[in-house]
Amino acid sequence: MVALGSLVGCGSSSNAATPLEEMRQRLTQDSAFWADVRSKFVFPQSTALMNVGTSGSMPQPVLDRYAQENLDAAIRASGGYGNLSAERTLVAEGLGADPDELVFSYNTSDGMCQSLLGLDWQEGDVIVTTNHEHGGGNTPLNIAADRYGIEINRVELPTGETLPDGVTPHNAAWYYEAFSERVRELRNQGKQVRALMWSSPTYLTGTMIPIPEMMQVCKENELISIVDGAHLPGMMAYDYRELGMDFMAGAGHKWQCGPGSTGILFIRNKVRPSNPLPLPRYHPVTSSSFNPAPPAWHDRATGATATYNIANAVQSLGSLNVPMFRALTEACQMWDDIGRARIQEYVLELSMYLKEKIADT
Ligand SMILES: Cc1ncc(COP(=O)(O)O)c(C=O)c1O
Repeated sequence: MVALGSLVGCGSSSNAATPLEEMRQRLTQDSAFWADVRSKFVFPQSTALMNVGTSGSMPQPVLDRYAQENLDAAIRASGGYGNLSAERTLVAEGLGADPDELVFSYNTSDGMCQSLLGLDWQEGDVIVTTNHEHGGGNTPLNIAADRYGIEINRVELPTGETLPDGVTPHNAAWYYEAFSERVRELRNQGKQVRALMWSSPTYLTGTMIPIPEMMQVCKENELISIVDGAHLPGMMAYDYRELGMDFMAGAGHKWQCGPGSTGILFIRNKVRPSNPLPLPRYHPVTSSSFNPAPPAWHDRATGATATYNIANAVQSLGSLNVPMFRALTEACQMWDDIGRARIQEYVLELSMYLKEKIADT
């Protein structure tokens, strides 16, 4: 594990002439700290990596761990049977998950398939989603439509600052109203609305569809909640237990800067005040673990105590690439050491600065 504890930020007092200048000063006040973080990455130091959203870049400590684990595995000719319980336990807290709710998936697309295709859809069920979903989420939606006869209903998302009627839709309340209204309309038509699925943020505009407001719609309407959170792990310091969604499928190879073919999948396995709705009936799609004895997979928890470890069941799948997932573990621990809240604040401020600077120019 890399030690970043020695890195200390140096403060600055603002003497900025403009808000933009003040923003720039805030961003650079910890420049020694961020320069040290940057020095851990192997891409040329003269390069600004602007597309972490497609895939990140493994930093040196992660590359080292991956190489060492591969070497050890080859020397010992070790297999990969198991459920990575120790590794998942090491990273779960930093991601705001219990270890029995955290799966190392293969990427976001895998997590979306695991989520959407493990639910017991009935013909005519409606999943309300958006017109800005990525293929990683749209594909399992389409498979579910083809296979089970579910209906996909899309809310059109705003893309401009202002709608023709003068409403500015880029606020959390707009999303709550738009999705509540759509669910109401569909139910008034006699439709069986069962779930909301959406991306936070979306890949087309980067809009962070507000998870608390969307969860409010789910709770008020007793809906299953499925979040395509491709860009959340490693960028946002979210606590998935507190947000309370049923599923969050994210990437390990984007902002979290783990190896390719890694992802973070949260599967709610307990009923907490953050989401008092019952856990949906769910069966893992791929697994090497099936226990026909009670508690059956569909006997899910009704309170704060899990009936069984769902993440173990989903994680266990033949012989796993243990070096790859240990390298992901290394990346997650490195992010915990830097401070996930600090990363989130820095990324958001950089993004705001970029937008303001473009507008200014
Ligand atoms: C919103 C969203 N969902 C899913 C994906 C697919 O990600 P992955 O390659 O991790 O499956 C992406 C990729 O950029 C994305 O932006």
